[in-house]
Amino acid sequence: MTSAGFPQRRPARLGVNIDHVATVRNARGGGLPDPVRAALMAAQAGADGITAHLREDRRHITDEDIARLSAELSIPLNLEMAATDEMLSIAMRHVPHAACIVPEKREERTTEGGIDAAGQHNRLAPMVRELGAARIRVSLFIEPDPRQVAAAIDLGAPVVELHTGRYAELTGEARVEELRRLSDAAALAAKNGIEVHAGHGLTFDNVAPIAAIPQVRELNIGHFLIGEAIFVGLEHSVRRMKTLIEDAR
Ligand code: PXP
Repeated sequence: MTSAGFPQRRPARLGVNIDHVATVRNARGGGLPDPVRAALMAAQAGADGITAHLREDRRHITDEDIARLSAELSIPLNLEMAATDEMLSIAMRHVPHAACIVPEKREERTTEGGIDAAGQHNRLAPMVRELGAARIRVSLFIEPDPRQVAAAIDLGAPVVELHTGRYAELTGEARVEELRRLSDAAALAAKNGIEVHAGHGLTFDNVAPIAAIPQVRELNIGHFLIGEAIFVGLEHSVRRMKTLIEDAR
């Protein structure tokens, strides 16, 4: 708290998700464009971390990408992963800085909703424990729903990432209402000692209200930044997002 009694605003980190550099590479096979080069460039432009989602079907990021990112990055790697034994063993092999557990359906185009932390308690509890014991910072990607926050508290997760996909799609009063749900979930999680991250569907136009939620400490942004890089270059795209986040704090 500041002396005036307002919650103190601290900087929020930007995690750059490089999955869609790999999507473009995989459209042709071969090695170009190289997602690791994009990660290193994003780091130079001010990214505070790199996020990569190793999906079960390997549609974008591959096992080799994860190995190279682990070896070459000097900023934290956040491995997005489904709650499967295969992904758990990959995480334990590379020991990334963080692991964000996400739901995964083969037929979805992107991560469509948060994980059901409440319904999947028995599956998630040993994973959260094992990753945590390896000093990997575990995050659960959840909807901004008090039930899911309560489940994350129950699981002892140190971090939750709030899914901003609905917020990004909605307009008008419905968006304001969703923003309220996100703020309330962030406050509830932080009050219980959980670090709050947010992400999905964020752009230059919609990031500010999310970055302005005081409890949000990290934003993970991918698709828009990589798309914008086609027009302005990755460095400019990342720098502008960093500025917008800083200005909103
Ligand atoms: N956070 C999580 C947990 C995600 O699954 C994704 C998408 O891979 C993102 C953030 C980034 O979303 P977007 O690509 O829409 O910026």
